[in-house]
Amino acid sequence: MMPSYGIRSAKYEMEMFEAAKTIYIFFKEQMMKSLTLLGGVIIALLSVPALASTIQVKGDISYKDDVFPILHDYCLSCHQPGGKGFEKSGLDMSTYQSLMKGTKFGSVIKPGDSFTSIIIQVIEGRVHESIKMPFGMSGGLARDKIEILKKWVNQGAKNN
Ligand code: HEC
Repeated sequence: MMPSYGIRSAKYEMEMFEAAKTIYIFFKEQMMKSLTLLGGVIIALLSVPALASTIQVKGDISYKDDVFPILHDYCLSCHQPGGKGFEKSGLDMSTYQSLMKGTKFGSVIKPGDSFTSIIIQVIEGRVHESIKMPFGMSGGLARDKIEILKKWVNQGAKNN
């Protein structure tokens, strides 16, 4: 009786051990998978600011050479007399003087301070999603163009 019980027991233990090993390997694999996934997510999150900071904008920004071409391509169709942005807000961007005059409520540019300048706030969608400029453009203005406008405002919004 005893020996046969002993053999069965040893076999049973072996089977249990194998089963436990399989379960252990399975969970270890799952864990490695989720760690890899987590690692990927962390790397992706870390690279977002890294990417943002790699946007290089040249030192001195010129209204004539850098800023006006952007306003011309992305804003003027609506923001000059006859355009719906002008009709609604009064903001005409066809000249430096009219741009600095702002909307019917007042100036949209505070020289030296891009953060509180309305023109930057609406481009970055910080006022309200419904008045993100350029109006109706999905995705908004490209990051490097926003940086040019911000830098120009921060450098004093000069007519240069
Ligand atoms: C497709 C037309 C259109 C384009 C393109 C457009 N806008 Fe506008 N914009 C509008 C309209 C319409 C309003 C009025 C929004 C409102 O008050 O509801 C407006 C209002 C504004 C205002 C005033 C917001 C306020 O606080 O009253 C600013 C500043 C502005 N736009 C900047 C820009 C800039 C900068 C660009 C280009 C990057 C641009 N817009 C492109 C249509 C446009």
